[in-house]
Amino acid sequence: MSQLLLQNRKIVLAITGGIAAYKTCELCRKLIKNGAQVRVVMTEAACKFVTPATFAALSHHEVMTDVFGDAEGIDHIAITNDADLLVVAPATANSLAKFACGIADNAVTTTVLASACPVVVAPAMNTRMLINPATKANLKTLQERGFYIIAPEEGDLACGDSGMGRMRNVDDIFAYICALLNDHVALPYQALPPTCLPSPQEPAALTQTKLLPKSHGAGLKIVITAGPTEESIDPARVITNKSSGKMGYALAQMAATMGADVTLISGPTHLATPNNVKRVDVTTASQMLDAVKSQIGQANIVIGCAAVADYRVIEPMSTKLKKEETGEFLTLELVKNEDIISYVGHLDEDRPFTVGFAAETDHFEENAREKIANKNLDLIVLNDVSDPEIGFNSNDNAATVYGPNGIVTSFGKMSKVKLADLLIELIIAEYKAKKHQEQDDSKSK
Ligand SMILES: Cc1cc2nc3c(=O)[nH]c(=O)nc-3n(C[C@H](O)[C@H](O)[C@H](O)COP(=O)(O)O)c2cc1C
Repeated sequence: MSQLLLQNRKIVLAITGGIAAYKTCELCRKLIKNGAQVRVVMTEAACKFVTPATFAALSHHEVMTDVFGDAEGIDHIAITNDADLLVVAPATANSLAKFACGIADNAVTTTVLASACPVVVAPAMNTRMLINPATKANLKTLQERGFYIIAPEEGDLACGDSGMGRMRNVDDIFAYICALLNDHVALPYQALPPTCLPSPQEPAALTQTKLLPKSHGAGLKIVITAGPTEESIDPARVITNKSSGKMGYALAQMAATMGADVTLISGPTHLATPNNVKRVDVTTASQMLDAVKSQIGQANIVIGCAAVADYRVIEPMSTKLKKEETGEFLTLELVKNEDIISYVGHLDEDRPFTVGFAAETDHFEENAREKIANKNLDLIVLNDVSDPEIGFNSNDNAATVYGPNGIVTSFGKMSKVKLADLLIELIIAEYKAKKHQEQDDSKSK
């Protein structure tokens, strides 16, 4: 059975009156399927789009639609008392304005105002409503007060227009919720009294880019390698490693969420392709190198997150090895594979901004400096794989990022999804800083 990402988490799901309310049925189902206990609150307008009966059936609880006739004795004050998160999806322009002003005139606005837990909002509306200075100011106010804002995306809107304003798809919202709730780094809000909504450092960075209608990955082509590679010994056996691919997939998901054009070159994994990501499947290291070569044209950034086999069997057997024939000892002759990220780093023409990953067990800084220099990288992300709670196959990770001049930043233990968000933001910022520097240098020549 797959892992329950939200086991025993208590989530209050608030729905306001936008057409995207139908997507919240799927979100509700997904939260529950992943072990969360969900209580639903709806505005009167929301009930015109989806009936409370639907959410009652999905959540196995009565739905709160009215502050006066509270469902199952749960009132708007108590409902978030032991909740981990209050998620408003979709959040209409009208409700956002009410949240910003502290209005409490229905079940949702009252619950938000009385909230004892962090609040996530997923706005959904027509583009003109979204870019109206009133809505922008309301979103800014809410963000400053510590609301987590999952910015809408571009696409076809219910009104028939196309543009920015569509509620983020269910998978993105789900990933975001998981990233917040699976954060093992103690978030400051947990220690704060219920009335203080959070304004922690890292989650603020998480929301920062997503608040902007045009996220800062837009216009960038990013190629990411992920997962292990497999080198054949014979038709039945392979040399591989413990990489699960989770980190690379999370990076791809977050880069796409920030608007980048993402190609994920993946070794064998059991992971689903992230939304809006082009995936190229490979098995061996040399196939991965070929795929990188074919995808690299016009790439602004290449991130080598795959755990590529250093060696392959020179001549894999065409038939299965039999131990009766090989005897007590078996010697395999191996040959070095080309180092993919080093190949990219040493390109003479159109070299993209090149980021490597390294799994180390000791001498971290020394190894990082050596690899940056040898592979000609712009950044290297170092993971300590000697800690079994992070790294290979776990859902958590911690990383230290080095550049040619030493440590750039360090991220403590957190979910891979959240780390991916912060890393992608950092990588894009460093890429842009380098581009600006190059432009300034060429102007001054
Ligand atoms: C068909 C239809 C679709 C709507 N979709 C949205 C929407 O996506 N976003 C939004 O902010 N308002 C939308 N509205 C307007 C809201 O329903 C309206 O502002 C309402 O007062 C919101 O109430 P609430 O915030 O209390 O739920 C829509 C209205 C209609 C009739």
